[in-house]
Amino acid sequence: MKKIAVLMGGRSNEREVSLDSGANVAEALSSLGKYEVIPVVLESDDLTALPEGVDAVYIALHGGWGENGGVQTALNQLKIPYTGPGAMTSRIAMDKIKTKMVLEMKGVPTAAWSLASPGTEASPLPLPVVVKPPSDGSSVGISKVSTPEQWKGALSAALDAQGGKGEILVEEFIPGREMTVAVIDGKALPVIEILAKDGWYGFDEKYKSDETRYPFLEDGELSEKLKKTAVEAYNALGCRGVTRIDFRVSPVGRLYVLELNTSPGFTSHSLVPMAGMKTGLTFAEVCDKILSSADYDR
Ligand SMILES: Nc1ncnc2c1ncn2[C@@H]1O[C@H](COP(=O)(O)OP(=O)(O)O)[C@@H](O)[C@H]1O
Ligand SMILES: [Mg+2]
Repeated sequence: MKKIAVLMGGRSNEREVSLDSGANVAEALSSLGKYEVIPVVLESDDLTALPEGVDAVYIALHGGWGENGGVQTALNQLKIPYTGPGAMTSRIAMDKIKTKMVLEMKGVPTAAWSLASPGTEASPLPLPVVVKPPSDGSSVGISKVSTPEQWKGALSAALDAQGGKGEILVEEFIPGREMTVAVIDGKALPVIEILAKDGWYGFDEKYKSDETRYPFLEDGELSEKLKKTAVEAYNALGCRGVTRIDFRVSPVGRLYVLELNTSPGFTSHSLVPMAGMKTGLTFAEVCDKILSSADYDR
């Protein structure tokens, strides 16, 4: 029987979500009856907790070392296959500025953007804009700036989320709808629309609100366009295994890739398992499919 370690926890601000994802994945993989599953809760940014003789690792870590190429690099060195994209892709995807540079280079549409830093007095782009720390997750430190008075507070919030220094991403605000597309092994799953209250999918809407709804987008031209662009974004960054690509869709139907999530949530109400189950798989089969493409960077 293959020995599979499910990594969860870690020290990022998404630790709690990761513990939930990891417990679900471990239980699901065990239920298949064909793996020896070892849940591994990380307390530090290293693999000292990883048991000997593991055949593959399922990464259920979100944010920080578990998603920014850190754990991927460590597993490459051990030559242990792991789920999701490799080290370099993970590192790029974790940085929204680098991601936008790569996407633009490959002709994948993203919102117009600029940079700000601690002393920047006013928005470098016409309002409204969205101000965000380039490498945090879960909408921490992200805000919309609609009036010049809101600039200072938004910039401080973004800077605070990353220790007060560094570059801050400023993006053109894209009105309209929000969609997400999971891609597994280069193939897009059904598109899910994110209907948040007031159209803003911030931290509270993600983890606290019961008012956010996640209907599937009906098949058609828009859904095909989203799937095609999601796969283009996946390929542009050299993803493998699973990645979830978030979009805004403007009122005239233009698509903008917001970000790529290379270690998406796997809680009972997470979007990737939901999309996988729409294709007829069980939660456990979605995990198994992701596990089957585990690899390391060769
Ligand atoms: N350019 C934008 N235009 C409109 N809404 C945005 C924009 N950027 C972010 N948002 C809103 O903020 C949320 C979080 O932004 P995102 O870039 O996905 O960061 P995170 O990594 O925290 O999820 C999005 O889901 C969306 O609702
Ligand atoms: Mg997001």
